[in-house]
Amino acid sequence: MTADRFAGKAVIVTGAASGIGRQTAVAFALEGANVLIADLDADGSAETVAEIERTGGTASAFTVDVSDEHGVAAMVETCVDRYRSLDVLHNNAYWAPLYRPVTETSTDEWNRTIAVTLTSVFFGCKYAIPVMLEAGGGVIVNTASVAGHMVGSPKFAAYMAAKGGVVQLTRSVAMDYGRRGIRCNAVCPGFIETPATAPLMADAERVEFLLGKLLVARPGQPADIAAAVLYLASDESSFMTGQTLVVDGGRSIN
Ligand SMILES: NC(=O)c1ccc[n+]([C@@H]2O[C@H](COP(=O)([O-])OP(=O)(O)OC[C@H]3O[C@@H](n4cnc5c(N)ncnc54)[C@H](O)[C@@H]3O)[C@@H](O)[C@H]2O)c1
Repeated sequence: MTADRFAGKAVIVTGAASGIGRQTAVAFALEGANVLIADLDADGSAETVAEIERTGGTASAFTVDVSDEHGVAAMVETCVDRYRSLDVLHNNAYWAPLYRPVTETSTDEWNRTIAVTLTSVFFGCKYAIPVMLEAGGGVIVNTASVAGHMVGSPKFAAYMAAKGGVVQLTRSVAMDYGRRGIRCNAVCPGFIETPATAPLMADAERVEFLLGKLLVARPGQPADIAAAVLYLASDESSFMTGQTLVVDGGRSIN
């Protein structure tokens, strides 16, 4: 692996104030990218920027609610203003309520999950693609999930529906813009230890369900997903588009 696959590239990572997004943003910066940390959580974003700057990397924060179309348009514009291009968009932010089968999901929870987890990806692609086309190409990596793609997950109805949508949207973008130089793939994490999964780790029954089927005997870490995202964003995967890269410790085949 080269250490500078993204030298001088402009990269947006949404949901980069925490967990997988933060780790991925740090990894992009370590390989030379200028990274826009796009998140609703301004304090968390500032921490990610500080972590990147400590290692000599370049990053800045942009506070955005990715379910807001104008906000996402401004996010793309800000990246171009600050870093003169947009080479890679990593749509990674999400929101979903835990422990909700359909009959216990309120309509507000459903709508918010779809807005933050799926419609945000549509907005990101809608505003990034014209900029990328003008520059001759670009790469989009969406965070989907092994849930909603390969396997089921109980009491996660809205999330499963949203992530299934992210997978199909990824394929649509790949089909519609591939011949014009845009690649679009999705990474599908399995169970990864992040602040989002901390409440699940405290639930012994759920941990048994989640970890019981893993073939790699440990929960996944954000770095496992960051490595996959960087691969999908780099020229090393230049013959891949419209694909889902499952990184789940083997859960989906067991
Ligand atoms: N952790 C896992 O086990 C796991 C498994 C499969 C998929 N994923 C996916 O990985 C991605 C990252 O998850 P994570 O575990 O790192 O979660 P996390 O909670 O650590 O991070 C999510 C980030 O999204 C941000 N966010 C929430 N709503 C937002 C909004 N409206 N606008 C902008 N930012 C917003 C949060 O502030 C937070 O920084 C998500 O897409 C998630 O679905 C995670």
